[in-house]
Amino acid sequence: MSVNNIHLCYFSPTGTTRLVLESIAGSMKSAETRLHVHDWLSPESRASILECSPDDLVLVGMPVYYGRVPSLFHAGLPLSGNGALFVPVVVYGNRHYDDALLELKNLGEAAGCTCLGAGAFIARHSLNPHMGEGRPDAEDHAMMHDFGKQLAERAARHAVSGSVSVPGEMPYVPYGKTPFTPVLLDHDACIACGTCVSACPVRLIDPETFEPAKPEQCLFCYGCVRNCPVQVRGPVPAVAEVFDSRMNQLAARCTERRVPETFF
Ligand SMILES: Cc1cc2nc3c(=O)[nH]c(=O)nc-3n(C[C@H](O)[C@H](O)[C@H](O)COP(=O)(O)O)c2cc1C
Repeated sequence: MSVNNIHLCYFSPTGTTRLVLESIAGSMKSAETRLHVHDWLSPESRASILECSPDDLVLVGMPVYYGRVPSLFHAGLPLSGNGALFVPVVVYGNRHYDDALLELKNLGEAAGCTCLGAGAFIARHSLNPHMGEGRPDAEDHAMMHDFGKQLAERAARHAVSGSVSVPGEMPYVPYGKTPFTPVLLDHDACIACGTCVSACPVRLIDPETFEPAKPEQCLFCYGCVRNCPVQVRGPVPAVAEVFDSRMNQLAARCTERRVPETFF
């Protein structure tokens, strides 16, 4: 069986999940396959359901938030599988992915897909750039390349194992909270480019004031912070010290280099 279409679907507020998926897909593509990109960052993109067919292959990439997939997707993925092959990929900041890979695999299967393989890869931590610093690196990319090759070869043979087993447990770990909604820290240095407005997956940032209009709905993805070209966003100064100290404690517990894992 040949795969006609590869759909690359990702939610990637700070860009590393997209990078990982592109690296894997780059090793899978052949002259016959067409690559379709579905960036699920905006509410509009998540509102349209991707209709797949059995000769499609869908790679879905999610960052790990608190050992889970981001809360926006707990109720389901915006896709209708119709028997398409499916590859869940989670990307995390060198702590752990806990139940996120299992959760993403279950979400894909609930959407009508058949799991071909799964992977967990490491990248820079979006809340603390000192965790997973420099990741993915050359070693990671070599593993992504190898994973992509294996997926392409298995898809061509339709070598589906029946049930791909991945780590994780149900009920999933409880979802967490990082009560440090980023704000605009320096009004004078802000260049009013609006990058933060479009970087916010839940459109919370007021396009006039660049302040979070509904802070209680913040996902804490830090997309607005990491994408700001003049780096003028962050937690309010009153809590910045607490935030830094929590991040430092987390980093101190996660110094060991974690390695990518793949499952078939
Ligand atoms: C709210 C939040 C929670 C996170 N939780 C975890 C976690 O449980 N384990 C981990 O290793 N990394 C965690 N991370 C780090 C991200 O999974 C990691 O930085 C990922 O590469 C971000 O993907 P992106 O660049 O596509 O946004 C978390 C990041 C955020 C923003």
